[in-house]
Amino acid sequence: MLFIGVDLGTSSVKLILMDEKGAIARTVTREYPLYFPNPGWSEQNPEDWYRESIAGLKELVAGFDPEEIKGISFGGQMHGLVILDENDEVIRPAILWNDGRTGRETDYLNEVIGREKLVQYTGNIAFAGFTAPKILWVKANEPENFARIRKIMLPKDYLAYRLSGAFVTDYSDASGMLLLDVANRCWSEEMCGICGITVDMLPELHESYDKVGTLLPALAAELGLKESTVVAAGAGDNAAAAVGTGTVGDGRCNVSLGTSGTIFISSRDFAADTTYALHAFAHADGQYHLMGCMLSAASCNKWWMDDILGTKEYGAEQEAITELGENRVFYLPYLMGERSPWNDPRARACFVGMTMDTTRAEMTQAVLEGVAFAVRDMYEKARALGASVDRTMICGGGAKSPLWRKMVANILGIPVDVPVSEEGPGMGGAMLAMVACGVYANVEEAAAAIVRVSGTVEPDPELTAKYDERYKKFQLLYPALKPVFSALAE
Ligand code: XUL
Repeated sequence: MLFIGVDLGTSSVKLILMDEKGAIARTVTREYPLYFPNPGWSEQNPEDWYRESIAGLKELVAGFDPEEIKGISFGGQMHGLVILDENDEVIRPAILWNDGRTGRETDYLNEVIGREKLVQYTGNIAFAGFTAPKILWVKANEPENFARIRKIMLPKDYLAYRLSGAFVTDYSDASGMLLLDVANRCWSEEMCGICGITVDMLPELHESYDKVGTLLPALAAELGLKESTVVAAGAGDNAAAAVGTGTVGDGRCNVSLGTSGTIFISSRDFAADTTYALHAFAHADGQYHLMGCMLSAASCNKWWMDDILGTKEYGAEQEAITELGENRVFYLPYLMGERSPWNDPRARACFVGMTMDTTRAEMTQAVLEGVAFAVRDMYEKARALGASVDRTMICGGGAKSPLWRKMVANILGIPVDVPVSEEGPGMGGAMLAMVACGVYANVEEAAAAIVRVSGTVEPDPELTAKYDERYKKFQLLYPALKPVFSALAE
C-alpha cells in the first residue's frame, strides 16, 4: 500500500510517496513564485499551487500501480487567505502567513475588540499573519473584492477542494484563522460577526485524519490514479510536521527550521497562553498544542547566502565556522517582522556588534545563531507557561545542517533528536491518509509504527554555559531596538 503526502510550502510543494511502514518510494519538489508587492507583503497565486501540485503528482506516481495508492493528504502553509467568488474563481492572490500588512486590523482586534474577548472566542489573540485580520484588510481596502466573497479557505484546503470537490478544513489549520473556537472545536459566530462574514462562507470542520472525499473522476483519470483514492483533510504544516516527527500525545516537542521557525509542544488539554506570546491550537492527533512561530528562520540563511553572499555553497560557508560560543556579532532574524514572541510586524533584521576585524564566517555564524536564539525566546515563553520540555525533535530544511542542529541543542540546552526523514509535513500528510484509510487506528499508533530517530545531538555543558551568556546579551537587543523599528516604519 502507498500513500501520498503533500507539503504545500511557501517556496515549493514537496510530494512524498510512502508505504504504510514509512519507507519512502519517491519524492518530488516543484517550486512556485512568491510575490512581495510591497515591503512586508507576501502573496502567492493559488493557481500556481494547483498547477505545480498536479504536475508533481504526475511525476510522483508515474510507474506505480494505481491500485496500490490508497490515499492522499496534506500539510499546508497556514493562515493564508484564499477567497473564491460565486463561480469558484479565486478573487485575488492569497495573502500569506508571513504578510505584515494588517498592523491596523491587528491593533483593532487586540485593542478595540480586546485581547480578553478574542481569547474567550478563539483561545488566541490577533497576530498580523492570522486570517481574520486579513479579511478585515480586504474589507477596508478592497471592498469590491470583499463583496464577492462566497468561500474562504486555507491554502491546503484550496488544493483539497480542487482535488475532491470537498469544501473542508481541519481543526489544526482552522485554529490559525482566529475564527475557530479552538477549545470547543467549532466556528466562532462572534468572530464571523466582527469580520463581517457568515459561517456558511467557511469550510466544514474535520479532524485531520478524517476521510473527506475521493478524487474527482476527471482528475483521477488525468493523474492515472483510482477514483476511489481517499482524500483526508490534512493539517497545518506544523501539525503535520509534528505528526511526521512523532510529536503527538502529551508534552513532546518539535523544532522546525523551515521558511518559518516554530517550536511545537503537544498537549492533551487545551490551555490558552495568558502572556499572549504563543498560539494555543488544535493538533492533528485530535488533541491540542502550544506553538511559537518566528517568521524567518531557514529563510534568513537562504537570504544571506543566495541574495547577499551570492553563493549556493551553504556547506562550505559553514565549514569556515570553527569557534562556537565566542562570536561577538549578533543577528536579529526579523526580515519579515516577527510573530512570536513579539507580535511586531515593524521589527526588522539587523547585525549588531561588528568591528573592523569581523569576518564573513562570523556573520554567517551570527545568522544561524540569531535564528537559534530566537527559537530560545519562544522556548523560554513555553517554559514560563509550565511546559516541561526535556528534549526535542528537529525538522525542516535548516535541520539538514549538523552545525545548526548543534547550535540549537546548545542554545536550548536540551538534546535534539534527529528523525530518519526530515520530510516532516509531507510525511505527516501521508500518515494522516493512512489513518483515514484505516491502516492505523489513530495518529499516535501511526507515529509509533513509523517515526524513527537516526541520532541525537547532546548539548555540551561548557558550550551551553557560553551560549547562556550570549543569550543574555541577545535578549537586550529587541527591547532596545523596538522604538527604532517603530520610528523606521513611520
Ligand atoms: C505557523 C506559520 C508558519 C507557516 C509556514 O503559525 O505561520 O509556520 O505555517 O508554512
